[in-house]
Amino acid sequence: MEVKEHDPFLSSPPLSSSRWWSKETVAIVTGANKGIGFSLVKRLADSGLTVILTARDVERGYKAIEQLRNEHGDGDDLHLHFYRLDVSDPASIKAFVSQFEKDFGVLDILVNNAAVSFNEIHENSVEHAEIVIKTNFYGPKLLIEALLPMFRQSTSACSRILNITSRLGSINKMRNSKMKEMVLSENLSEEQIEWMVNLFIENVKKGTWKSQGWPEIWTDYAVSKLALNAYSRVLATRYKDCGLRVNCFCPGFTQTSMTRGKGTHTATDAAEVGARLALLPPHQLPTGKFYIGFSPGIVSKL
Ligand SMILES: NC(=O)c1ccc[n+]([C@@H]2O[C@H](COP(=O)([O-])OP(=O)(O)OC[C@H]3O[C@@H](n4cnc5c(N)ncnc54)[C@H](OP(=O)(O)O)[C@@H]3O)[C@@H](O)[C@H]2O)c1
Repeated sequence: MEVKEHDPFLSSPPLSSSRWWSKETVAIVTGANKGIGFSLVKRLADSGLTVILTARDVERGYKAIEQLRNEHGDGDDLHLHFYRLDVSDPASIKAFVSQFEKDFGVLDILVNNAAVSFNEIHENSVEHAEIVIKTNFYGPKLLIEALLPMFRQSTSACSRILNITSRLGSINKMRNSKMKEMVLSENLSEEQIEWMVNLFIENVKKGTWKSQGWPEIWTDYAVSKLALNAYSRVLATRYKDCGLRVNCFCPGFTQTSMTRGKGTHTATDAAEVGARLALLPPHQLPTGKFYIGFSPGIVSKL
């Protein structure tokens, strides 16, 4: 990843007059029963959009909806819906997309937020590498592929995908130079990205992963996010003329379950920036960008 510039947008005042959306604007957020996903749903629903809160556990999902309605005061004002979605399970993705298509049929914003990491902050075990790759890379990829035909084609607003990734998945964390060169190539393909993650899993199974130059910190998680960043770039290039914008956002070290409550800021703070990115006015919305943190924020090419 080539760091290019500090982004004035990330330290500018919150959303204001540039409202392009309405209650007909439909946003899906994955993994939204808690943490940054929950706060993102809150921010988007409070802004007046129709928001689909998804979670893998039905009870946790409905509880989140109930909490949002209670916190809002007049919960009936919120255009909020819950659907079950386990992004690590292709059958669940299929069932969700099929139901969503019947109920809504069109989509404006997809925030791929759901993810897992099984490490304590200073640990680096790859014991759960397969589930990490399946959830954090294949999950968003399969969901995007299934939802692609439903993104609204509009001249006045741009459909958008915001993938919540991590600076741990920046290309400069990759120490294997051949792999780095492949990922940075202008002609990078989906097949090459899948080949990379499959090779990583193979290395893990053979017990050789430590000597192959993969990222050093939270290795399985970093590979999953690196792959998602790379896939986002492939998509951004492919759809640049079709009105679909694809960007990534690293929320920084945030106090959530994933970090066992440690971090420099709250999920609400992170979601405030995430929601502003998801709601950028069409004329300001780039594609193929990686927004990192926010104090100060950095934006680079993916
Ligand atoms: N916190 C940080 O410092 C930090 C830094 C950089 C990037 N991020 C990224 O920010 C995003 C949100 O993370 P967070 O910090 O808010 O973590 P979190 O509090 O652990 O929330 C993760 C969410 O993902 C859900 N999830 C996990 N596996 C799922 C699956 N298979 N299907 C559907 N949902 C699933 C969890 O549901 P359950 O409650 O059912 O487990 C939960 O709702 C992630 O993409 C993460 O990688 C976080």
